Amino acid sequence: MKVTPPPPGRIGARVDGFDPKTCTREQATELRQLVYRHKLLIFGNIELDDLAYLAMAKNFGKPQIYHQAHYHHPRHPEIFVSSNVPMDGKKVGVASTGRFWHSDYQFFDEPLSTTFVFPKIIPEGRRVTRYVDMVQALRTLPAHLRDALTNATCFHEAVMYYKVQPWDIDRAIAELMAEFRKHSPGAHHPAIITHPVTGEQALYISEGFTMSVDGMPHEQSQTVLREVFLHLNRSDLVQEHEWGKGDLMFWDNRQLNHMAGGGAPGQPSRSYRIGVYDGLPFYVGCKLEDTRL
Ligand SMILES: [Fe+2]
Repeated sequence: MKVTPPPPGRIGARVDGFDPKTCTREQATELRQLVYRHKLLIFGNIELDDLAYLAMAKNFGKPQIYHQAHYHHPRHPEIFVSSNVPMDGKKVGVASTGRFWHSDYQFFDEPLSTTFVFPKIIPEGRRVTRYVDMVQALRTLPAHLRDALTNATCFHEAVMYYKVQPWDIDRAIAELMAEFRKHSPGAHHPAIITHPVTGEQALYISEGFTMSVDGMPHEQSQTVLREVFLHLNRSDLVQEHEWGKGDLMFWDNRQLNHMAGGGAPGQPSRSYRIGVYDGLPFYVGCKLEDTRL
């Protein structure tokens, strides 16, 4: 394997020569250390069928089964399908997922440690995933925001991004929201988290899922969050990776916010995500549920 680290101060190492079909647990452990260091890995020239993809991911940890079944691959529920292309004449997965800033599963008590995304059909035009380095975002956060968020916790939920499905027709939005909140009631996490491996601190707030700062008056909480979101959109903090054929992306959700971007609307697109719990607390002090290896 050849690892090309990012330039200083940037995220994302490129890994060439990785053969996912012969990946072992030991190799996955090494690669996990690499993703903690560089936050994002891009494996090049990857060819994988669905079963081999899943087998490879299992070396890295415990694959997650997404809480909404209509995102699942028809044969492998661990594969989360983002697609607007039917499979065997049937709608599979959900189109245009994650086109907002977020960290995967931030709205659950045990967020998703790491994420693989493997593009299967790359749309015409420039299709990218954008990232914000949340360690760097914290280092450069204005002092008054850092003061406001030190020792604070935030509330996160995903209800605003529920994607209305064919079976929801004739139902009130309020009813859909109440039903969504029954199985996904949101979660509270520290605004600043400490990584369980690197010991680095990162800001853990996203425009998509973070709703409020706990215990703060509403107006103040909204003002602080708006300022944080503006900070996170600073061009020097945002990086993007353009999807290339055979690229497999792998990133650390503790240290990055990400969003899907680019791609002309309506162009055929399909990607397969596998979220993997690495068996460590998401942050120092975070409880572990059923995500141990
Ligand atoms: Fe995501």
